[in-house]
Amino acid sequence: MQPVVYVLNGPNLNLLGTREPAIYGRDTLADIEANVRAQAKGLGVGIEFRQSNHEGALVDWLHEAQANRAKAVLLNAAAYTHTSIALLDAIKAISVPVIEVHLSDPSTREAFRHHSYVGMGAVAEVKGLGADSYLVALKKAAAL
Ligand code: DQA
Repeated sequence: MQPVVYVLNGPNLNLLGTREPAIYGRDTLADIEANVRAQAKGLGVGIEFRQSNHEGALVDWLHEAQANRAKAVLLNAAAYTHTSIALLDAIKAISVPVIEVHLSDPSTREAFRHHSYVGMGAVAEVKGLGADSYLVALKKAAAL
């Protein structure tokens, strides 16, 4: 069976396109999903692409990725990156490798974005490339 990569997106990323475009660009999440799916075809991987504004949904989907023996998870946990011990625990609880993704580079922004709970459990991080962060992360995931 084709390996599957989960692409999980956290709060406010449903508003990409109009949300602070000077920071996050003009691509919508649907644009990003289309680009990810196009690249995935070439890489021979399937994609489960999700977004939620709710922390627990992201935890449930990390568990689901494990149950479904996903190849990897690309996780843009958005603001939960910086706050969520529950997400870190979920990442640690599963054996599926998680790659942290960000459109912006949080380390060059406000101090409260410098700490990443997700990063404490992730195997790699791709940030600061706008929508291309997802494509670079997907390549990394396919090579795992
Ligand atoms: C983000 C960076 C986070 O600090 C922020 O809370 C987001 C988006 C990014 O993709 O650049 O919502 O994860």
